[in-house]
Amino acid sequence: MKTVVAYYSLGGTSRKLAEERARSMDVPCIAVEEVRKRSIISAFTAGCYKALQQKPSAVKPISEEITGSDRLIVFAPVWAGMPAPAYNSLVNALHSGQEVEVVLVSGSGESKAEPRLREQLEAKGAKLIQFTNVKAPEK
Ligand SMILES: Cc1cc2nc3c(=O)[nH]c(=O)nc-3n(C[C@H](O)[C@H](O)[C@H](O)COP(=O)(O)O)c2cc1C
Repeated sequence: MKTVVAYYSLGGTSRKLAEERARSMDVPCIAVEEVRKRSIISAFTAGCYKALQQKPSAVKPISEEITGSDRLIVFAPVWAGMPAPAYNSLVNALHSGQEVEVVLVSGSGESKAEPRLREQLEAKGAKLIQFTNVKAPEK
């Protein structure tokens, strides 16, 4: 079973946690990057709006290592209670049968996103196998 860690990160915290996890499992760690550089203002306005609507943002081509994996461990920051829009771009690229573990990183360490994420993944034919909220460590 091919396992890959993938992440989107604006401030670097999700990236750091993703890299630690990938290292501990000795699997690849791959970034999903937005096409345009995201400002903090855009994150709090259009970004939060899209996050709440579970809408994607424009991202660079998603690695075949991600789309071709059997099991994906995804790290993403919480914006307005939901994963940042690049997470939705990643989910849109998944294929049927993939198993997905989601780790949401947030200031509070709390989100109620799990049921909506499960439904979104199931609509793609993918399966949420684990969900964790993580409180971002102090920088
Ligand atoms: C636009 C924006 C919205 C956020 N909304 C929330 C939120 O609703 N709840 C929360 O606990 N933290 C929220 N945060 C804090 C981030 O989830 C937290 O700082 C996270 O560690 C950022 O990850 P990153 O460094 O990988 O980008 C928000 C941060 C930003 C920039």
